[in-house]
Amino acid sequence: MSETTLVLIKPGGVNRNLIGEITRRIEARDLKVVGLKLINAERATVEEHYAEHRERPFFGAVVDYLCSGPVVAMAIKGTNAVKAIRAMMGATNPLEANPGTVRGDFALTIDDNLTHSSSDPEAAARELGLWFPEGTVG
Ligand code: CDP
Ligand code: MG
Repeated sequence: MSETTLVLIKPGGVNRNLIGEITRRIEARDLKVVGLKLINAERATVEEHYAEHRERPFFGAVVDYLCSGPVVAMAIKGTNAVKAIRAMMGATNPLEANPGTVRGDFALTIDDNLTHSSSDPEAAARELGLWFPEGTVG
């Protein structure tokens, strides 16, 4: 089934010059970019994005991290896009992420794990509304 999901390249990924590499992998999988922008995220947007983690000890740190530099927000569309993208990004903790995944290939620590991707279709719809209120292209 065709789905659209949200990918964020976090400030660490932008800083490491991984915009092209991550986007290349997504396009190579025949997933389509239907939204794309480089932005300094508003703190309120990031807090809303991570609302499910508000009570967790890492909440402040992860919000600070997302606000520490530019992020790339992408809307990605394709068959089973939500699961396909999650698998391509790898486990949250890069030490548990398989080689061949973005986190398994390029990251070493959980607090600098380079990307976000929506966890399920409901989260994707909510997050796309938050990061792309203007809508996507296709
Ligand atoms: O990003 P993902 O959906 O894989 O993981 P999450 O459990 O939804 O956590 C969101 C983000 O919080 C992670 O990607 C990490 O950047 C951060 N985090 C952290 O710094 N320390 C943890 N123990 C758990 C998450
Ligand atoms: Mg998550």
